Amino acid sequence: MRVLGIETSCDETGVALYDGDRGLLAHALFSQIEMHQAYGGVVPELASRDHVRRTLPLINNVLAEAGMTHTDLDGIAYTAGPGLIGALLVGAGVAQGLAFGLGIPAVGVHHMEAHLLAPMLEPDPPSFPFLALLVSGGHSLLVDVAGLGRYTVLGESLDDAAGEAFDKAAKLLGLGYPGGPAIERLAAGGTPGRFRFPRPMTDRPGLDFSFSGLKTYTATTVRAHAGEPAAAPDIALAFSEAVVDTFVIKCRRALKQSGRRTLIVAGGVSANRMLRSALDALGRECGARVCYPAPQFCTDNGAMVAYAGYLRLAAGDRADEAFAVRPRWSLAELVAPGAGAQDLR
Ligand code: KG4
Ligand code: ZN
Repeated sequence: MRVLGIETSCDETGVALYDGDRGLLAHALFSQIEMHQAYGGVVPELASRDHVRRTLPLINNVLAEAGMTHTDLDGIAYTAGPGLIGALLVGAGVAQGLAFGLGIPAVGVHHMEAHLLAPMLEPDPPSFPFLALLVSGGHSLLVDVAGLGRYTVLGESLDDAAGEAFDKAAKLLGLGYPGGPAIERLAAGGTPGRFRFPRPMTDRPGLDFSFSGLKTYTATTVRAHAGEPAAAPDIALAFSEAVVDTFVIKCRRALKQSGRRTLIVAGGVSANRMLRSALDALGRECGARVCYPAPQFCTDNGAMVAYAGYLRLAAGDRADEAFAVRPRWSLAELVAPGAGAQDLR
């Protein structure tokens, strides 16, 4: 079964072709980052319009790269949510239109399920069950994953998502959008130990996160050291350490509580090298295997959507409503394949 995946939930147009026997055949991405940079964040209407421009040419590129045509496709997967409604509707419209024209099934994929499955595109993929730390621009979730569509959310951010916290801290430090990679570069030159930021919600039981206080702490520190450019890398480092340490403490707790022996880490923030090396050390400490997607598949991409869609279509799931999208959609509402179509209303 060959499945075309289309990702348009935010500011990246991603398209990929996944083959059940041969794996990922081709993928292409157009990032709108440059267009949104002037505004310091994603402008939803500009994002939708750019997805309209990019999606069909990217599909043609991916098919050409794989040496195939539309008639070689067996199904089409699109990100149905969560995300920006206009942006989601572009992917849904293209996917449903193509699938209808070609007489093949379409399936709406949950964006965070796609992130969660991305480490399975790597060689020697992890197998169910496992724990998942999903850290993106819109979500920070700790999830127990018993199987495809069998998710129990153990903890989540009560306010800002981790990526959002990176983006806001970057803005305070006068860095560009997206903030995560910019903070990571700046922190590499920081002096360890100069500042120590709080580790939010780690001194009480539970697996939820909160990052808005860290943003306030960063703002106060930046203000206190205004006019001292040399302090910026130290602040970026202290901020990163606080976020990383918070995730290490919560993942240690979750591994111990659940007894799971595999931790997968996915979403844009999982590209962060400081986070990866700290979680690798945690894996050694707890005797757990820690798996990540390839860096290019940490942030939004079509490959993860094609793969998640392939698994869902192969198990019999179908989108039952044309153009159905869900801008707000909890991972906890998903069901295992075959248990009925995902509720997109
Ligand atoms: O998964 P993603 O591409 O989009 C969403 O689903 O939200 O995540 C984007 C987020 C942004 O907030 C970005 O700043 C963050 O991931 N990010 C990083 C790094 N690369 C991207 N955060 C920390 N370190 C990085 N290297
Ligand atoms: Zn994402």
